[in-house]
Amino acid sequence: MKKCAIMTMKGGTGKTTTAVNLAHGLALSGKKVLLIDCDPQRNASITFGNEGKRGLSGLLRTGDVDIMLVRDNLFLIDSGGVDLLEVELLLGKDQDRERRMSKALSNLKGSDYVICDCPPSLSLININVLTFSDEIIIPVSLDYLSKVGVSQTIEMIDKIRQLTSKESINFAILQLF
Ligand SMILES: Nc1ncnc2c1ncn2[C@@H]1O[C@H](COP(=O)(O)OP(=O)(O)OP(=O)(O)O)[C@@H](O)[C@H]1O
Ligand SMILES: [Mg+2]
Repeated sequence: MKKCAIMTMKGGTGKTTTAVNLAHGLALSGKKVLLIDCDPQRNASITFGNEGKRGLSGLLRTGDVDIMLVRDNLFLIDSGGVDLLEVELLLGKDQDRERRMSKALSNLKGSDYVICDCPPSLSLININVLTFSDEIIIPVSLDYLSKVGVSQTIEMIDKIRQLTSKESINFAILQLF
């Protein structure tokens, strides 16, 4: 199972567009794909017209989550919307705060790919996503602050790699527009 996050610290660079199309493309090619909306904006979930009652916020709170089939081979976990922000505040007090998502999904089976659509922030949710993921796609647009967002994301990846003692977290920079 490949675990891939679409992340950069800069907003509006095509993260959700990449996550949704990559997930659907892989599903169309016959792979089993789980798309996890990790952004309180819920743009990936809204794209598929689905908002689960128990999303990522529910998973992190209680371990319970609704996994919805949105296309052939393509499953979706909603973010939980603003509830994810509240969960993030609660997580901040936990000793194991950066590993909660990895632990909650440790028994996940049956997917060839897990794709995480991330918010544009240096947040605890993104730290959890980096701890969980093996590969990161960093979408960049052709403006200076977007380039700064790439540098900030690479710095964060490096910090998480050291913190979690992972041998490597691969990343690729993708220019969409
Ligand atoms: N290849 C493209 N060419 C032109 N516009 C695009 C392209 N891909 C995406 N967009 C548009 O750019 C905008 C931002 O895309 P998207 O929502 O995927 O970014 P994002 O990084 O997820 O944003 P956020 O940081 O708010 O989550 C959207 O309006 C989207 O339709
Ligand atoms: Mg987005």
